[in-house]
Amino acid sequence: SISSRVADLLKRMTTEEKVGQLAQPAVVNMQGDCQWSGGALTESCMQHVLGDLKVGSVLSGGGESPPNNTPKDWADMVNAVQKYAIDHSRLHIPIVYGVDAVHGHNNVLGATKFPQQIGVGATWDPQLSEAMGESTARAVKATGPQWDFAPVQDISRDTRWGRFYETYSEDPYLAGELGAANVCGLEKTGQVSATVKHFAGYSAPFNGHDRTESHIDPRYLQDTFLPSYKAAVDAGADTVMVNSGSINGIPAHASHYLLTDLLRHQWGFKGVVVSDWNDVDALRTSYHLTDTYAGAVAIAVNAGVDMGMLPPGEVDGFVQGLSDDVKSGAVSKRRLDEAVSRILTLKFKLGLFEHPYVDASKANAAVLGTDKDLAVKAATESQTLLKNDGNVLPLSTDLGKVVVTGPNADSIPNQNGGWTIAWQGIPDGVNDPGVTVYQGIKNVVGDHAKLVPDADDAVDQAKGADAAIVVVGDKPGAEGVSDQELPELSADQQDLVDRLQATGKPVIVVVVADRPLVLGKAADAKQLLMSWLPGSEGGTAVANVLFGKANPSGRLPVSWPKSTGDEPMFYQQLNGTNSGTSSGYDPLFAFGAGLSYTTYAVQGVSVSGSGTVKVSVKVANTGSRDGDFVVPVFAQLPVSRILTPPNRLVAFTRVPLKAGQSTTVSLSFPRSRLAVTQGDINGSGTRAVLPGQYKIVAGDKSADLTIH
Ligand code: IFM
Repeated sequence: SISSRVADLLKRMTTEEKVGQLAQPAVVNMQGDCQWSGGALTESCMQHVLGDLKVGSVLSGGGESPPNNTPKDWADMVNAVQKYAIDHSRLHIPIVYGVDAVHGHNNVLGATKFPQQIGVGATWDPQLSEAMGESTARAVKATGPQWDFAPVQDISRDTRWGRFYETYSEDPYLAGELGAANVCGLEKTGQVSATVKHFAGYSAPFNGHDRTESHIDPRYLQDTFLPSYKAAVDAGADTVMVNSGSINGIPAHASHYLLTDLLRHQWGFKGVVVSDWNDVDALRTSYHLTDTYAGAVAIAVNAGVDMGMLPPGEVDGFVQGLSDDVKSGAVSKRRLDEAVSRILTLKFKLGLFEHPYVDASKANAAVLGTDKDLAVKAATESQTLLKNDGNVLPLSTDLGKVVVTGPNADSIPNQNGGWTIAWQGIPDGVNDPGVTVYQGIKNVVGDHAKLVPDADDAVDQAKGADAAIVVVGDKPGAEGVSDQELPELSADQQDLVDRLQATGKPVIVVVVADRPLVLGKAADAKQLLMSWLPGSEGGTAVANVLFGKANPSGRLPVSWPKSTGDEPMFYQQLNGTNSGTSSGYDPLFAFGAGLSYTTYAVQGVSVSGSGTVKVSVKVANTGSRDGDFVVPVFAQLPVSRILTPPNRLVAFTRVPLKAGQSTTVSLSFPRSRLAVTQGDINGSGTRAVLPGQYKIVAGDKSADLTIH
């Protein structure tokens, strides 16, 4: 068994060998020793990191790639690092290699890029999320790595926060379901491990700026932030990555409560906890909990961190610090063995002792341009139609002339966003294949589509065209640069939309952006399609929807604010005195909004059972086009002695319905999904279901549920 193999190996390891296992440095593009030379890492680098320090893992974080960046280059690189590690390890222990494959195998040139997570959120389709996980794992494994730092299980609530687009949703249940499915997909073959990140409460910085302090009371933490991580942990995720920030005055990396009491003892997590980048030393350099490296390592490891993710240059300090800690007893031998056992278990589970290498000759065929249909399907399902006054959409494919303009009309980098090829998105001058919105439209209407980059020209030409499609939005960005104090559509883009609308021609506004930007004047758009960051095949998806090859079915996974001052904005805002009995929730577009080219109706809801609540919803396609109807089911507790959100998503489904078809769908949820944290403003810590008269709501129908 794996546990006996781990125990056997552990017995034979020296302390030095054990200490090394806890280190995960970045080896690619390292400064200093580790430079590329002729397509391989230099011998001196490998000797130092793998031979001398005996590290247990390495990563290519944030899009660090080998020169040329083909799948075969990746496989050759990972094989070479692996071979060096095994050959120079007395006990032939393989490394586990980590990457950020967060929307497909996004680091690799020519690999298909899926929509970013926020777009997956808009699909409300866990099966699709699972299929994307499977596809991503297949591509990752074909290029060598076995550890994927995905999915992000943080709950987005504030568009100022720059990593908003990396989350699935503002809703704990929707995010949990999509992430759990993704974990199952990623780990399906047992050859790749998923990572639930960033545990916990990472998305709630007080002032919207990444990695600044957050203050999350026990009720908000338990009822809002924890369930989505728990769902993904329960789905079997092998690893968890820690939140870089602090909560209630404690850095998450120093929180024994989070990393041990909650994650291990309450949730029963058995896998590996990895730090985020440089966050062990940050306990010293940023948080000043200690003034020694060894002190930082002891705090993190004793709180429950099993492995330190280390920037170039940090690996020596970490290994030395941990060695000192073990010598001094600051980290016990038992705790060291525990962390090493978890890391070795992961490696045995992944089959790395038996099959450490991949066949590099097969990597290109396995990765280049594969699974495009899945990417088109995902991007198409994510398209969220928010306005269609006068049913101008779908456009006819016989239009005479369509002006296509706006900064995101013809940009592969902008539709992919951050974490694509490089950390902050595809760098200038790098051509990664894909279909832009303009190309997608051109593929449908040929030369009738005219790309007009200049704004004045576009307005002039729109006057003589049948329609204008204006693709607005933002530029790519990732952590470090993507926070925005005013997450708004730029004034020049608002003007462009305005001027185009003044031509009196049909104007379709397509937003390709990483968050629901405050639209300002552009909120007057008569046709508005949110495309999120749809990935490499995004243009095909947008054209599919605009020209009616696909019936839009995306639904907002987040609330769309009217102004930045509305932040944080989310549909679960609690009732208050400021606006009578309502929560004052007043978005531009509400959570769950999304139009279709057909009409749907919910014709009835009934509930039965109480341990497991069964919900039957009769749905109908009352229009003239086939489509997928996303049906959210909410629970309400109109009279409640603890404030509970006026609506809470408790179940959902996506039903394909032919024009005119009706059907009854059966959903269910455990009664525990209604639980809220009890007690006064400090919370009692226990979650329980309040007795009372609940309403289970789908569309404009509801049924009563009495909980005694
Ligand atoms: O996985 C990421 C994480 O999401 C943010 N910091 C860096 C890690 C590795 O690139």
